[in-house]
Amino acid sequence: MKISKIAKLAAGAALIAMTAGAVKAQEQVEVLHWWTSGGEAAALNVLKENLQKQGVTWKDMPVAGGAGSAAMTALRARVTAGDPPTAVQLLGFDLKDWAEMGVAANLNELAEKEGWDKVIPAALQDFSKYDGNWIAAPVNIHSTNWLWINKAALDKAGGKVPTNIEELIAMLDAFKEQGLTALAHGGVPWQDGTLWEAVVLSTGGPEFYKKAVLEADPAALSGEEMKKVFDTMSKLRTYFDQNFSGREWNLSTAMVIEGKAGAQQMGDWSKGEWLRADKKPGTDFVCIRFPGTQGSVLFNADQFMMFDVGGDAEKAQMKMASAVEDPAFQIAFNTVKGSVPARTDISDEKFDDCGKKGMKDLAEASSNGTLMGSLAHGYAQPAAIKEAMLDVITQHLNGQLTTEAALKRLPEAVAAAK
Ligand code: BGC
Repeated sequence: MKISKIAKLAAGAALIAMTAGAVKAQEQVEVLHWWTSGGEAAALNVLKENLQKQGVTWKDMPVAGGAGSAAMTALRARVTAGDPPTAVQLLGFDLKDWAEMGVAANLNELAEKEGWDKVIPAALQDFSKYDGNWIAAPVNIHSTNWLWINKAALDKAGGKVPTNIEELIAMLDAFKEQGLTALAHGGVPWQDGTLWEAVVLSTGGPEFYKKAVLEADPAALSGEEMKKVFDTMSKLRTYFDQNFSGREWNLSTAMVIEGKAGAQQMGDWSKGEWLRADKKPGTDFVCIRFPGTQGSVLFNADQFMMFDVGGDAEKAQMKMASAVEDPAFQIAFNTVKGSVPARTDISDEKFDDCGKKGMKDLAEASSNGTLMGSLAHGYAQPAAIKEAMLDVITQHLNGQLTTEAALKRLPEAVAAAK
């Protein structure tokens, strides 16, 4: 082949590659997330398919591990390498941390056009905005103070749902007598923290939760009320099975679904697993507020922060953000995921009884001042303080710290992390 012909072919190939590159960059979103369980993946598919219909391809970057701590490590590596994904699932104070580094895209134009200010609750906007600018599209509102009970086991135990810790213990005792693992729990820090925050709220009520968790007040973290919390944690541990350590949350949910365990304390992403297994609320399982926490909601909201990745990818990013806030998507996604809409203008009609309860509880808590951020999911404290507290909670639950030592360590760990 003549040199000139080879050069022409090479130039042609380069042009095709460039064009393909441009199209790809324009119409693709690379999304880092930790939605890898059955229910989570099913919910995410709703978004993938929506975007595909609009010509936006989805490059998946899943990093398994509930609550996203492994995902956050992966994200740091990508950003450090100068190659951030276009959109990232983020929670609470992590949004602020990334925005502070100046790596967030600005969604103001879209948010204004679509009127997000009017429909996203203020509690979420605190995190979806940085310096007054929209940096993230909130997907949903989860809450953590739930208890998921196997209906058949509950019926066998008399059918009455517990409304305080004492009644919870009585129900767990009955499950034990049935030969079940009474309380399905996975021993990892975020799950220990999810249980602990529910116990804090149940033991001391919303004002105590605010003092101890939202304000990290040293006296509240080490006083009499907190002693009761740690004592209850030690008691609850006696209802776990022997293999609880390190278990992922969805495997614990599966134990309750299969009737091997009686109940699980977990956020409402748990419901996604029940639905995925074709189980119905009220028939196969019962969802109640963690005993003693009725009237309060500990919230956690998934948000997609858009990274500032430059001109070409922006169009696809905005399509994704817009798709996330679309009211029809909010229904389609959240009815599968177990969460409730991040918008306040969505009817509960399409939601099952647990979803309806979730929406009602949220509205009530929001107007009563009892809607509070979850510690374990990053909405109560910045990462360093959260990790420090979870560390003490986990060590205590695993018997490495006595209650007395935990009460001393907790305020110390917070002070050191500040
Ligand atoms: C997220 C949920 C997720 C859960 C378990 C939480 O932090 O907000 O969307 O389902 O972790 O992975």
